[in-house]
Order: sequence, then structure tokens, then C-alpha cells
Amino acid sequence: MDSISLISMLADGQFHSGSELGAALGVSRTAVWKALSGLAEYGLEIEAVKGRGYRLSRSIELLDRDDILHQMSSSVRDRMSLSILPVIDSTNSELMRLDRSEGEFEILLAEMQTGGRGRRGREWVSPFGRNVYLSMRFDLSGGPESLAGLSLVVGLSLASVLNCHARGQLRLKWPNDVMVEGRKLAGVLVELRGEATTAWSVVLGVGLNFDMGVEQDTGIDQPWASLSEFAAVGRNQLVSELASQLVHDLDVFREKGFSCFQDRWNQLDFFKGRHVGVVGQGLSGLSAGVDVKGNLIIDTASGRQSVNAGEVSVRARNP
Ligand code: BTN
Repeated sequence: MDSISLISMLADGQFHSGSELGAALGVSRTAVWKALSGLAEYGLEIEAVKGRGYRLSRSIELLDRDDILHQMSSSVRDRMSLSILPVIDSTNSELMRLDRSEGEFEILLAEMQTGGRGRRGREWVSPFGRNVYLSMRFDLSGGPESLAGLSLVVGLSLASVLNCHARGQLRLKWPNDVMVEGRKLAGVLVELRGEATTAWSVVLGVGLNFDMGVEQDTGIDQPWASLSEFAAVGRNQLVSELASQLVHDLDVFREKGFSCFQDRWNQLDFFKGRHVGVVGQGLSGLSAGVDVKGNLIIDTASGRQSVNAGEVSVRARNP
């Protein structure tokens, strides 16, 4: 039996009897029972109550392609292809593997990632149905300098959409972590597909903790937050808004580069006016926001330095 059909029936968080589930899915009650025990593989907790049936311990708003697309303007929708997979190793890896392109902006979403990847080789914890795992592929022309600030723009798109629902409480930690109350809510991973020097096939990945419970925190090595603590918005609505905002911001970025995002980014700067240090580089000083290319400016004892958003990690420090 298809586990996803079973999850769809249980997604409402209400009780469903074994016979109701069996009839709807065309299988015996024994087959339903077996399939229910298999849902542990998705990290889903099922409650069984005699006389009432089975339910998910927490309801899930499953991703719905039509719902997402219908909430977009037709001008955005017409430029986009959108696919949803129940389970994949990593939505970024999947788009990186494909050698064809469908649509100007190709979006891939998954309910669960078994090998979600974060920046600097870290794992991205990706339980079923709780968060947003979104990757988008698009083309960008120009030399290597045309990529400057791209990942910051993606973080900014994300923070702008989220801030509409979270009363402006979110900040951006350079280069592209979305933070709330000092905890990480979302992150961005930008990768390039294939070899190129003047025309880039970019795969950007956004991971957003949407409604993650503490039981799913299997080894996240930093303080984290979930959007549901701060905002009451549906997953499909949020994905639709995020995809639209990304298309809008990437259009501007492709035409004008990072410079016209600089002020907007600096307004949300998490490090603003704080002492920071670049891990492993012995560089520290007062953070002074980002420059026109998205580099982090640090006022050190020996003068102003700018740090490129490569593989470095910047931490707040005591002066
Ligand atoms: C970070 O370390 O902050 C970046 C996290 C990026 C996670 C997203 S989830 C969708 C896409 N697929 C992945 O494997 N990673 C990105």
C-alpha cells in the first residue's frame, strides 16, 4: 500500500477507524495496521485508541501543488515549473543531478529529506511534513562577479516573506541565516550546476523550520526556532509567497546585482554594531553591515576589512 495515501488520510489529525482506512485504500484492516506501523520510518507518531481508530499525534498540512500555484499571480506561475516529492535525499542534490531544465524557474519541494544538506558540509535535519525544503534552479549570465551577493538576496527574500507573518522580528545573520530571538529559523544553500564561466545554472536551496517539534531535534548543533512559534500561516501559502518573492528579487538581482538590496539587507542585519570574529582567521572587530557586493564589513583595530561570503563562519564575540 502507498504510505503517502495513508498519510494523506491521516493528515487532518482526526481519528480514522481501520475499516474506514482499509475501505478508502482498498486493502484489508490487517494491511492498514501493517502500513501504520511502517509510518515510524517517516518519523510520524500514530495514536491508536480502541473503539475510535488511529490518528496522527499532530496534524500535517501536506504540500499541495495546485494550492501553491493558485496563490501565485499568473505572471509568476507561467514562468515556473513546480514538483513535489514525498521523500528524496536532498532537493538540492536532485536538481543538481538533473541535466535537463524545465521552465525558467524550476522548483522542487519535498515533504522529507533523508540526506538534507546545510552549508559547510553540515546535515540539515528534515523530518516529514513539518518544515519547508525548497530548491529552485534558474540561469544567471555574466562572469563570476555576477554571483556576488546572490545567497544574501535569497536570505533576504526569505526574511521579507517571513517577517510579514512574524511581525518583523526576524533578522539576517551574514551571509544568509534567518534568525529570531538569537535562534536559527531558516538557512540557504546556493550551488552551481555544471562547469561554467559566463552562464550559470544555479540551484538554490531553502530550509525553513516551520513546525518542528523538539522530538525531531536529532542532533541540531545550534539553537533553533520554528515559525509556528511566531506566526499562524499555512505551509502552502508560505511556499507560494516565497516562490513569488524569489522570482521578483532574482529578476532585480539579474538586472542590477546586489547593490540595490544592500540597504534592505543592512536593515535586518543581526550582527549590526556587535563584535564579531571570523572563525579560524584571527580577524575580529565591530560589524558594520554589508557592502555593495554583499561582503561583510568589519571595523578591526587595524582598519576596515571586508569578508567574502565563501566558506567562512562569523560569530558574535565579546569585545
Ligand atoms: C544552511 O546550512 O543554513 C543551509 C540549509 C539549506 C537546507 C536546504 S533544505 C532544501 C535544500 N536541500 C538541501 O539538501 N539543502 C537545502
